[in-house]
Amino acid sequence: MRLLSLVQNALLLCGFAVLSSGADAAAAVPQRNSHVPRGFVTTRGTHFELDGKPFAFVGANSYWLPLLTSPDDVESTLKSMQNAGIKVLRTWGFNAINGTELPGALQSNLTYYQTWNNSEWSLNANSQGLERLDKVISTAEKHGIKVILTFANNWFGSDLYIQWMLGAGQTHDVFFTNEQIIASYQSYVKTIVERYKNSPAIFAWELMNEARCLSDTLRAGPSCVPGSNTLRTWYEQQSNFIRSLDANHLITTGGEGHFFWKDPETYWSDHTLVSDYNYNGQAGEDFDHDLLLPNIDFGTYHIYPQTWYPELDFPGSNWTAEDWGLDWIQQHVHSANKANKPVVLEEFGVTGLQNKTVVYPKWVQRALDTHHGIMPWQFGQLGLTEDGGNRVIKYADALIDGASPNDGFAYYPNQTAVWEVFTRAAKIQNARSG
Ligand SMILES: *[C@@H]1O[C@H](CO)[C@@H](O)[C@H](O)[C@H]1NC(C)=O
Ligand SMILES: *[C@@H]1O[C@H](CO)[C@@H](O)[C@H](O)[C@H]1NC(C)=O
Ligand SMILES: *[C@@H]1O[C@H](CO)[C@@H](O)[C@H](O)[C@H]1NC(C)=O
Ligand SMILES: *[C@@H]1O[C@H](CO)[C@@H](O)[C@H](O)[C@H]1NC(C)=O
Ligand SMILES: *[C@@H]1O[C@H](CO)[C@@H](O)[C@H](O)[C@H]1NC(C)=O
Ligand SMILES: *[C@@H]1O[C@H](CO)[C@@H](O)[C@H](O)[C@H]1NC(C)=O
Repeated sequence: MRLLSLVQNALLLCGFAVLSSGADAAAAVPQRNSHVPRGFVTTRGTHFELDGKPFAFVGANSYWLPLLTSPDDVESTLKSMQNAGIKVLRTWGFNAINGTELPGALQSNLTYYQTWNNSEWSLNANSQGLERLDKVISTAEKHGIKVILTFANNWFGSDLYIQWMLGAGQTHDVFFTNEQIIASYQSYVKTIVERYKNSPAIFAWELMNEARCLSDTLRAGPSCVPGSNTLRTWYEQQSNFIRSLDANHLITTGGEGHFFWKDPETYWSDHTLVSDYNYNGQAGEDFDHDLLLPNIDFGTYHIYPQTWYPELDFPGSNWTAEDWGLDWIQQHVHSANKANKPVVLEEFGVTGLQNKTVVYPKWVQRALDTHHGIMPWQFGQLGLTEDGGNRVIKYADALIDGASPNDGFAYYPNQTAVWEVFTRAAKIQNARSG
């Protein structure tokens, strides 16, 4: 999920960049071990496997777990996930602040792993830093939950690299092409991978949350356009780099799953026929081809039709948010089958309890029917003890009356109709496993 919900209109495309060859040709590409240690998840065709048995799952997204200061709250949240049948947790493996924010962070006990105050970040591995991530991972392991760790965020975090290393006036896509930035990103990735490399509690490494050519604050440059393969080249480089450090854990992109189709989907918006932004390559990914990269072990995609297409569901559009999502699921399953790799519905959400109650059963059933991993955005926990509530944990999200942060997409155990969609799906997935 992104920080701000910025509306992208489906713009028609004017220019295509020349296709670059993309490959670092002859250099030997490191490969995943065909036999991974006991307890490590691996893949077989379109399925995940654990210790030689199928591994199907419902997972949870919770970026805020490592931001909690109370180990008891971490424990109670992971216990509640376990009780809901959840087997995979996705959380951020990054948390960066800048030097100006440090005094405030020290005062509020805010978790941070990286501080930027000049052209290189410094690591915070202490009890207000990576030790909190250690705690989340070891507590997850205790509750039989494996963790997807994401190394950077398209929304905000990656722009810190750009601003501190290159200064103002840059476009967002330099994050993916500037050699100095890539080296800095890789040195952070290496720190995290080496910390947990031998741990079976890691499900997968994830390159970036929702990589796109643009961010909320920086625009895309002219060299990050459909056909430029900017993101694919970066995915290839970074996944090969991680594989050279760790031959056992799975690696994925963390992308939203945009397609770059020659003949993209179209729909009617306000009585005008438009090319669908998520199918015409404008967002930056090329899901069909990205999934073929040798060290991208499975695909990820997200679904937020209400924020992506506010015009759906209204007169003048011939599509509903619910149907758009069902089609999006189907298209990703189709790509995954072609690539013979698994796919995970890694984030999805609609706002409004009534909308959730209507839409989630349909999307979840389709994902169950097509046998892939299901991870709603985002898990809600009640009864947190920390600070008695109302602590702003980062940017805009607060803990209110013991409820975990709610960006409009959180679902809580007291919302039984929605909660049961996921607990029921977890029972089905768990019965297919082991
Ligand atoms: C900060 O958080 C740690 C847990 O990581 C806790 O032990 C400590 O008491 C907290 N400090 C303050 C001042 O709240
Ligand atoms: C550092 O953080 C402060 C406070 O959030 C912000 O105003 C400032 O723009 C940031 N500086 C950079 C270079 O990111
Ligand atoms: C950040 O850099 C400024 C200017 O060099 C310095 O005054 C300040 O103490 C630094 N802050 C931190 C937290 O290192
Ligand atoms: C909406 O209209 C377009 C253009 O006529 C068509 O290609 C598309 O299939 C329609 N979508 C749905 C869901 O009916
Ligand atoms: C429910 O979905 C409709 C259609 O997408 C949207 O207009 C409405 O705002 C949503 N309700 C809430 C409470 O978010
Ligand atoms: C459930 O808990 C949330 C978070 O505290 C609260 O906003 C909501 O009103 C509660 N009840 C229902 C039925 O959602």
